[in-house]
Amino acid sequence: MPALVLLGAQWGDEGKGKATDLLGGSVDYVVRYQGGNNAGHTVVVGDQKYALHLLPSGILSPGCTPVIGNGVVVDPSVLFSELNGLNDRGVDTSKLLISGNAHIITPYNVTVDKVTERFLGKRKIGTTGRGIGPTYADKINRVGIRIQDLYDESILTQKVEAALDGKNQLLTKVFNRRAIEVGQVVEELLGYADRLKPYVADTVLVLNQALEQDKVVLFEGGQGTLLDIDHGTYPFVTSSNPTAGGACTGAGVGPTKISRVIGILKAYTTRVGSGPFPTELFDEDGEALRRIGGERGVTTGRDRRCGWFDAVIARYATRVNGLTDFFLTKLDVLTGWEQIPVCVAYEIDGERVEELPYSQTDFHHAKPVYEYLPGWSEDITKAKTFADLPKNAQDYVKALEEMSGAPISAIGVGPGRDETIEINSFL
Ligand code: GDP
Ligand code: IMO
Ligand code: MG
Repeated sequence: MPALVLLGAQWGDEGKGKATDLLGGSVDYVVRYQGGNNAGHTVVVGDQKYALHLLPSGILSPGCTPVIGNGVVVDPSVLFSELNGLNDRGVDTSKLLISGNAHIITPYNVTVDKVTERFLGKRKIGTTGRGIGPTYADKINRVGIRIQDLYDESILTQKVEAALDGKNQLLTKVFNRRAIEVGQVVEELLGYADRLKPYVADTVLVLNQALEQDKVVLFEGGQGTLLDIDHGTYPFVTSSNPTAGGACTGAGVGPTKISRVIGILKAYTTRVGSGPFPTELFDEDGEALRRIGGERGVTTGRDRRCGWFDAVIARYATRVNGLTDFFLTKLDVLTGWEQIPVCVAYEIDGERVEELPYSQTDFHHAKPVYEYLPGWSEDITKAKTFADLPKNAQDYVKALEEMSGAPISAIGVGPGRDETIEINSFL
């Protein structure tokens, strides 16, 4: 029962899409277990580039069944436009399965996301504005709308009424917006029902049966460990659990079934939106990482904040996810630096700290303690084996592995599927 979890070890955008796609050819199911269309996963196949938001990256591998699990929040209009875009490019999307228990991002949730951010002003989270937080809030408040609700108009109407009762008070009296009409929302949601129907399935049953039959299932996280609602840099996080445990709750598979947990780790660090980021650079090095790494958001088009590699964060990701492996991405981006700073610990109020502080105040005060590793200038994008890498690049990888607490089993040296050095097989 090989069940692999593949997740972001930093603040998202580590290259999960590429890593998932790479394995997609050898796995039977690729499952998204949390988040929604806040994700932006880039996959490059030959000369074709795909930007996926809601769909699992396995959708590009013909033999693979893509699954949207119960833990995901689904905006049906985004789903359809993503499916249309892929169909127009000749991708077969007919195998897609969607959990009937997945919650729907309704138009009012998108509105609430945007007005909440506006009201937070300078304290804003910098969300993607896709309605993610309010949809999960409704789920936890037990006033959410699930995909299965689209198939019972009476229940759907009652649930939309319940969800809008309080929200309309808030929208009109606090946020000074117009109230949202129940009938209009119900009509819009019912309009999605027929097209969604063929995809809706009991995905928990499907996945557990697949595992019993020794099929290979890959759980693809969105976002990253430091954006986790429980383990991330709260409140500057997303509203779900991208960490490994989220795969179990978000797909209905028990923890005893998970055989491997792979952390995708960028050879430097990026972050989008607000919140602390100890190794962030505001100088020409940061600008260079952004330019060479193409660090611009796939979903919102925002420039990503860039900084050096942070081993404290990598160790933390190993711990909270129980990582068995790392997939180190974008090593090629670091080519050309004479020496590369790596954050090995923090200095907080004059004291050296080796592990991520649990206190938000301390983390805000954390200053990186750097070690300087020698760089390389050779082009590494054609490297196929570890031995093909220049000595200094090999030493950089080995040093990161030593500091991070799990073996680096693959290295990305370019965005393409084949621009990867495989060290230990994942399957
Ligand atoms: P995700 O959200 O984790 O899937 O990552 P994104 O797609 O948002 O951002 C990662 C970016 O890096 C994408 O543009 C990928 O095509 C690109 N990428 C992934 N791996 C590598 C790599 O090893 N080298 C380079 N140069 N680019 C990579
Ligand atoms: P992928 O899957 C990077 C960030 C947002 C914001 C915070 C909360 O491509 O790695 P939300 O809309 O989720 O409520 O926003 O989380 N964020 C991401 N940052 N990559 C992502 O996804 C992200 N998804 C959300 O920028 O700071
Ligand atoms: Mg991304």
